[in-house]
Amino acid sequence: MTWQLRRAQEGDLDAIMALEEASFESDAWSRESMRRELTHPECYYLVGLDAEHPDAVEGYAGLLCPRGTGDADIQTITVSESSRGKGLGRQLMGRLLEEAASRGARKVFLEVRADNPVAHGLYLDLGFTDIAVRPRYYQPDGVDAIVMQLDVVRRGTALTGSAESAGSAGPTGSAGSAAEGASS
Ligand SMILES: CC(C)(COP(=O)(O)OP(=O)(O)OC[C@H]1O[C@@H](n2cnc3c(N)ncnc32)[C@H](O)[C@@H]1OP(=O)(O)O)[C@@H](O)C(=O)NCCC(=O)NCCS
Repeated sequence: MTWQLRRAQEGDLDAIMALEEASFESDAWSRESMRRELTHPECYYLVGLDAEHPDAVEGYAGLLCPRGTGDADIQTITVSESSRGKGLGRQLMGRLLEEAASRGARKVFLEVRADNPVAHGLYLDLGFTDIAVRPRYYQPDGVDAIVMQLDVVRRGTALTGSAESAGSAGPTGSAGSAAEGASS
């Protein structure tokens, strides 16, 4: 499977919300929250497309990385059910981590539901470590959040280049979420 990644636009909102609502039944972000994310100057969102069917959005992921702070947050990541397990999530994460590095982030944070072993395993594989637990963070389910951190500097030279253009993504990647405390 060849994936193309490109910068998300406001025109992708319908497709992104369809995936958001299908993937996060109890704690999906609202359309307005997602629109703010897509248009926020300190956010960086990507969509993932199947190169053979580039009209359909198969996944998306977003980063919040205020310049000059040294910190970044993986806001969210989702891959359509039919496209999971084919490398898109890893590629989306890799590109977000590259972008964080290019914006000068030294640490990247995310939160993941304690009942999501697939996402947690992916983040561990990418080099994130568990640093805290927020009890009953995800409501209404009352599920704990695991807070994870990646040291970008120690992760080193693999994080090079940026991710503006379409085309298959780099070799690393993953996802989670943080700021608004929703999708992950
Ligand atoms: C988490 C998610 C984004 C991963 O995306 P994906 O495209 O399926 O992931 P990839 O195919 O790139 O797989 C990456 C790694 O995840 C793990 N993984 C993927 N599918 C898995 C499965 N069914 N069982 C166990 N591990 C799995 C593996 O470690 C895999 O690494 P590998 O390819 O070296 O084996 C996707 O499962 C998803 O959208 N889930 C629903 C929404 C969600 O939970 N988002 C995360 C919120 S924190």
